[in-house]
Amino acid sequence: MDIFETLESEVRCYCRSWDTVFERAAGSTLYGEDGREYLDFFSGAGALNYGHNNPVLLRPLVDYLLSGAIVHSLDMKTPAKRRFLESFQEFILKPRHLDYKVMFPGPTGTNSVEAALKLARKVTGRQHILSFTNAFHGMTLGSLSVTGNSMKRQGAGVPLTNASSMPYDGFFDGQTPDFLWLRHALEDSGSGLDKPAAVIVETVQGEGGLRAARASWLQGLAELCHQHDILLIVDDVQAGCGRTGTFFSFEEAAITPDIVCLSKSISGFGLPMALTLFKPELDIWKPGEHNGTFRGHNPAFVTGAAALEHYWQDGRFESHVAGLITQLHDGLSQIAAGIDGAAVRGRGLLAGVYYPHPGTAEKIAAESFARGLLVETSGPQGEVIKAMPALTMSHENLRKGLDILAGAAEAVTGVPVALASTV
Ligand SMILES: Cc1ncc(COP(=O)(O)O)c(C=O)c1O
Repeated sequence: MDIFETLESEVRCYCRSWDTVFERAAGSTLYGEDGREYLDFFSGAGALNYGHNNPVLLRPLVDYLLSGAIVHSLDMKTPAKRRFLESFQEFILKPRHLDYKVMFPGPTGTNSVEAALKLARKVTGRQHILSFTNAFHGMTLGSLSVTGNSMKRQGAGVPLTNASSMPYDGFFDGQTPDFLWLRHALEDSGSGLDKPAAVIVETVQGEGGLRAARASWLQGLAELCHQHDILLIVDDVQAGCGRTGTFFSFEEAAITPDIVCLSKSISGFGLPMALTLFKPELDIWKPGEHNGTFRGHNPAFVTGAAALEHYWQDGRFESHVAGLITQLHDGLSQIAAGIDGAAVRGRGLLAGVYYPHPGTAEKIAAESFARGLLVETSGPQGEVIKAMPALTMSHENLRKGLDILAGAAEAVTGVPVALASTV
């Protein structure tokens, strides 16, 4: 027993699956205290899209800290905040013709979701929120009320109210046109569904099993919300910041949500930071009506601005990511091939393999760790192996990771995997 086991709460989680002491990291490699190397297909659950200790972000951060500049400032004005806002406007909002106000809601994804739900209720004067099966939006009470996972919901200890769950795209595996369910419920005054303030959706369900909504489904949802005067919130906490190949995950569907939640990789460096974006006409907050001590952390502004300026000024980074996406999906298809019922799930660099046999994905993740690869599972039963490499990973490292994953899958399932040319 070490101090992590004797002193730290039983609630700890990742350190149980990956029982080592991580000491250093660079790019897509972590090093244990014992000197072992681990390749990273986890990326801090999406908080490290640009890898660990990326020098492009580390240098400005160190310079900033050594300069005596402001670190903590609540939502006061600082040069670091100015530069972040200017970069976000210049490289993200303007080129995409997005007219959003930017709110700093507190440093985590769930803070962004809480602010989005609160604002939607305030704007519409309605209480009800619609969410989707297998959604995950965070661990505070409002976010849990729109989260699907029963174990996580039970942890609330109070009734989770004012929200209803609707079938996500593919919930009925194509046997029932699931989208009609929502349309009928909204259009039939006898459905018993209170008119909602908002619908909250992930374009790819990062925690809920890597189901990815089709662009046509998202377009239908946006249209339905528009017709019924319901606000559309896209929770891009995990799928955003380039993870699916474009900065926002909803770009492929060409929809414009009313409210967008961003966190995880928005600071670029793994520093806590979150944004809630919304159309200007929704900005009816009174000053200080939603507050918090850690809203706008200057070191995170510095690394966040550096990431936007370095990676998002033009299309070169997106082209690199597109190459990685092709390579990852090729590799995952080959790993899934030959296993009855196995299938590739997800979109972009938020993808994995679904295994119908209970426990298979968990065993593959454990075997991968033993072979030096960090990879986690997703889904209510951990039935999907989830590959989330850094967007900055080299093709060689991606190949290495896929090789380890293929070897682990072969060892667990007994089905040979021949990885062909994924580089
Ligand atoms: C889609 C989505 N929303 C919200 C959250 C909550 O973010 P945080 O853990 O930073 O509160 C997560 C976390 O995984 C997420 O994937």
